Amino acid sequence: MSLGTLVRGLGVCQVFGDGIGNREDGDQSRCDRSALAPEVFHAIPKKAPLPVDQSVNAGRTAPVNFRCYPNPVEPAHGADASRGRKTQNGLGHRSPRRRLLATLTNIPTDLEAVLNDAWEVTRKVPGHLTEKEARFLGMLAACVPAKGTIVEIGSFKGRSTVMLAKVASRYGGGPVVAIDPHNSPILLDHSAHPEASSYEDFLESIRAAGVSGHVESRAAYSKEVSKSWNRPIRILWIDGDHSYEGAKNDLDEFFPHLVPLGVVAFHDALNVFPGPIRVFVEDVLQSDRFGPAGFVQSIAWAQSRPGDGEAFRERRSSLARRASRLLPFVESGRELRGMTKRRYKLRRFLVPHSAIEAREWASLVDSK
Ligand SMILES: C[S@@+](CC[C@H](N)C(=O)[O-])C[C@H]1O[C@@H](n2cnc3c(N)ncnc32)[C@H](O)[C@@H]1O
Repeated sequence: MSLGTLVRGLGVCQVFGDGIGNREDGDQSRCDRSALAPEVFHAIPKKAPLPVDQSVNAGRTAPVNFRCYPNPVEPAHGADASRGRKTQNGLGHRSPRRRLLATLTNIPTDLEAVLNDAWEVTRKVPGHLTEKEARFLGMLAACVPAKGTIVEIGSFKGRSTVMLAKVASRYGGGPVVAIDPHNSPILLDHSAHPEASSYEDFLESIRAAGVSGHVESRAAYSKEVSKSWNRPIRILWIDGDHSYEGAKNDLDEFFPHLVPLGVVAFHDALNVFPGPIRVFVEDVLQSDRFGPAGFVQSIAWAQSRPGDGEAFRERRSSLARRASRLLPFVESGRELRGMTKRRYKLRRFLVPHSAIEAREWASLVDSK
């Protein structure tokens, strides 16, 4: 059986140490990876006019800003943060209009400290999520301006669960519903231990992190859970079955419950798996249901904007053009080698995917 068939057939995603994923740093055996892609800009800048129905004053009272934090919050872009300064992705915020608009998303003043604390706990949990990816997830848990649950498809031993739950519980950001049958035939060695399961380790991870009360565990396949799902979702985190059918099914089944301004995020979109990148390009970047979108390392994310997604169409299309060049390389799910692998990496380099700070992320979701 080919590796691609295995990945598709078994509906599992990550492979520890055998190279299927062709992960970005080339070292697939470590969980905590620090070698990163060169810092390139995160999203393609585009000036757009202020829409008539969203004047700055209207924006201040718009639902974008409804979240309340237990601690004082600061605007995403105070005047000092935005005065002509180039951001790390090179976009800068020179326009006065942008500066004013950028006060819409609130960022907790203690976010950095909370993310540091959460990472200290998260890093102890086995898994492939990098530190920058984990911090990005934590930032979403703190800042996504929507109410509802956080749905995680694919928990394994709880690395992303812990990050999401740590931060969400700190800011009252909804429980994490962690969906995983915990029987991954590739991540677990069933030949040696037919009954092997990641469930006990998962429970221990959330217990040790002190977030058991903020996590609802569903030991089941996402398809089973989706059948009776009826709760609003503010973050849909898809890290389960990385086949095309699996990733598409996860988006199709749960997207209807993603609330406006909520965020969907796929893991491993910039690693060699057929599903996440294809679904992201075809069903997210090419859809006006979504507004701002981008990549942070191998995480692909987009915000649900049913009312005004078309205002972001050009920026999404530009990203889709670059990301779609990866599709021919990943569709078989087979490990890449030699020149093919180099060509894939070059194309991946051309997809903006550097880490992003909360303020910068807020400027993307608050801009039009
Ligand atoms: C890479 S792991 C998840 C990693 C985890 N998010 C972390 O941060 O460590 C993928 C997990 O997805 C689970 N999985 C595979 N197919 C699934 C499905 N259809 N529904 C839910 N979980 C699934 C596997 O059991 C496996 O534990």
